[in-house]
Amino acid sequence: MHAQVGIIGAGPAGLFLAHLLYREGIDCVVLEARSRAYVEDRVRAGVLEQGTVDLMAELGLDQRLRRECMIDEAIDIRFGGGKLVHVHFPELTAGKVVTIYGQQEVVKDLIAARIADGARIEFEAEVTGLDGLDGDRPTIRYRQGGTEHTLTCDIIAGCDGFHGVARPAIPDGVLTTYDHVFPFGWLGILSESPPITEMTYANHDNGFALCSRRSPKISRHYLQVAADEDAANWSDDRFWNELHIRMNDRDKSEIIEGRIFQKGVTPVRAFVAAPMRYGRLFLAGDAAHIVPPTGAKGLNLAAADVRVLARALTEFFRTNSMARLDRYSDTCLRRVWKVVRYSWYMTSLLHRFPDHTPFERNVQLAELDYLFSSRAGRLTIAENYVGLPLEDE
Ligand code: APR
Ligand code: PHB
Repeated sequence: MHAQVGIIGAGPAGLFLAHLLYREGIDCVVLEARSRAYVEDRVRAGVLEQGTVDLMAELGLDQRLRRECMIDEAIDIRFGGGKLVHVHFPELTAGKVVTIYGQQEVVKDLIAARIADGARIEFEAEVTGLDGLDGDRPTIRYRQGGTEHTLTCDIIAGCDGFHGVARPAIPDGVLTTYDHVFPFGWLGILSESPPITEMTYANHDNGFALCSRRSPKISRHYLQVAADEDAANWSDDRFWNELHIRMNDRDKSEIIEGRIFQKGVTPVRAFVAAPMRYGRLFLAGDAAHIVPPTGAKGLNLAAADVRVLARALTEFFRTNSMARLDRYSDTCLRRVWKVVRYSWYMTSLLHRFPDHTPFERNVQLAELDYLFSSRAGRLTIAENYVGLPLEDE
């Protein structure tokens, strides 16, 4: 089998790329290790920057999103036993907002459209190896239905996430990796309960908490826990009681509890691999970088990467010029590092650090107090939260 572009992974990066290439008449195949049901059921983030919403609209895939999404115009940050920083996006960013729509809903819409187009997407097709990356006819080896297959390509897009095979296929000595693991994790739940008014973060003496949402009837809440915490240690009651405490909702009059139907612990880390390319292999999304979940940027950064890659691949297949492809990694990494910086900043601002000295704790609280009284400080958060402008690649 041959394809101009072999895409490894049917997450947001691989699926957005497939649709962008399909629109340009570029022949691509998506190879996904898991089943369609598995991929569509994975619980992930849910905050879309305007650029990501615009991409769905550009692809003509935003009908359900428009119907079912929620619009968030602000966030609140609670600290100091009663203080609150309110960051109002439209006032600070000339009208910009963020859209709440689960990543798994984005994935469902992208997969359904790809199948409706009759485009090639192979599920339960696990890529086992890549060859010839430094030539002009790289090949992908994959297993499907108990049989080994080979796909020859002109280009391979490694959109297979942090635990994929694309990044490890790059020879030793080529990549520089940057890894920062925070000393805590996030215990997240989904519950059948209406969310509170605002997307609300808390820096409490007990630790970080976040009250988010997926719809007017489904809440997404998080608590900071130990990095190696087992979700089984947290009964529903224990979770709710701690969330009320950290959110300064001691009389339990604000946060409405409900049936918890998903519970899990997520690590909090930042990771970047550079360059995001080796020969005819191009990395995009989590395959190349992980951002701390605090910034809610993972999906949005994946979409930004593949916008750049799709433009470069279109130039390549139309003109045979590698110029944009040669600039791909530098272009993406400029945005990646700014998003890593912002996500690191929000993580450092909002969490309790076990090894913080009293001095460091007071500096952290002073930063929150500064934001409480500084429009400039709140503007910095707002312009990053709604999404930095896409640079002209
Ligand atoms: N062969 C085929 N598919 C693979 C392989 C493999 N060897 N290894 C991984 N995959 C698939 C995974 O099953 C997954 O569906 O690649 C896909 C990668 O998708 P994501 O991990 O969602 O990564 P990405 O598309 O970059 O999206 C980043 O997803 O993980 C979240 O928080 C992250 O929001 C961010 C977004
Ligand atoms: C989420 O809803 O998963 C979410 C929201 C805001 C964040 C992080 C995660 O900053």
